[in-house]
Amino acid sequence: MIVLGIETSCDETSLSIINEDNHLMSNVIVSQHSTHSQHGGIIPELASRQHVINIEDAFEKCIKNASVKLDDISVIGVTNGPGLIGSLIVGVNFAKGLSISTMKPLVGVNHLKAHVFASWIKKDLETDKSFDTPKEFPLMCIIVSGGHTDLVKLDENFNFELIGRTRDDAAGEAFDKAARLLNLGFPGGPEVDKYSSFSNEHFDFPRALLRGSHDFSFSGMKTAFLNLSEKNKPFDKDKISKLCNTFQEAIVDVITKKTIKAAEEYRCRGIVVTGGVAANSHLREEMVRKSPLPVFIPEKKLCTDNGAMIASYVVENYKKSNNNFNNIDVKSVLNY
Ligand code: KG4
Ligand code: ZN
Repeated sequence: MIVLGIETSCDETSLSIINEDNHLMSNVIVSQHSTHSQHGGIIPELASRQHVINIEDAFEKCIKNASVKLDDISVIGVTNGPGLIGSLIVGVNFAKGLSISTMKPLVGVNHLKAHVFASWIKKDLETDKSFDTPKEFPLMCIIVSGGHTDLVKLDENFNFELIGRTRDDAAGEAFDKAARLLNLGFPGGPEVDKYSSFSNEHFDFPRALLRGSHDFSFSGMKTAFLNLSEKNKPFDKDKISKLCNTFQEAIVDVITKKTIKAAEEYRCRGIVVTGGVAANSHLREEMVRKSPLPVFIPEKKLCTDNGAMIASYVVENYKKSNNNFNNIDVKSVLNY
């Protein structure tokens, strides 16, 4: 079984191929960061146009890198939401075209669920790296991305239950806005991560823990950061590093504490950390350091948006439903 995964929900055009052992054969990610960084954020209209420009070459490259032919592909998976509608339509229509012309089955995949399944990828054949994957359930999964901060419980039948979510900004959005206040580039998360590594110091800074609830809130911390950064103008590299370290530490503190608490309360057997913010070095270290449960975090390039997680979702759900595609959400993709 060879699965092609297609992801175009936001600003990455990504096509990847995975085999039935969930080994990654090819992972092409075409980023649009240079297009959007000039505007300080993602411009949806530009994103969909870039997907149109990039998708065919990305597909050719993906097939070539995996050393497979189009005919070898058994099933196509494509993100069908949530995401930017214009961007989603490009991926979905490309996938439908492939599916109709080759008579291969097409599976519509939820982007957030797919982020979780990035943790099931066992091996990257391009780099020869192997990964430990979750085996015991239930799992507490924290999906931290540019648009979402969702705490979900996953049971052994792959049913998801929403335990908590952000009431305002997503964690990635908070990182991006903090970076913008410091005039760092877009996306801001990797910049804040980089500058934080230059400093061991931090300012006093509040945390919104919303005790008694599994929800998150980052907008108050964002306002506190606005006030703190105003007080520290004019910026120099040391101040920027200390400010980044302060903000990163606070966000990571909230995410780790709340995720571990929820995992314990729901008697989970492990924790999955995924989504773009899971690429954050401090979050990766702190979650492993503080959690009494096993922690699974995909490698950095599989935390941010990618087609491999889409293909992994298809492979694992296919196996879970006794090798039956009918139990997977095939029809929803036809709604477009
Ligand atoms: O999952 P993702 O690629 O796209 C969405 O589905 O939203 O997440 C993108 C988000 C951005 O907000 C970006 O700033 C953040 O992930 N991000 C990071 C890091 N790398 C990406 N945030 C903190 N530290 C990082 N190293
Ligand atoms: Zn995402």
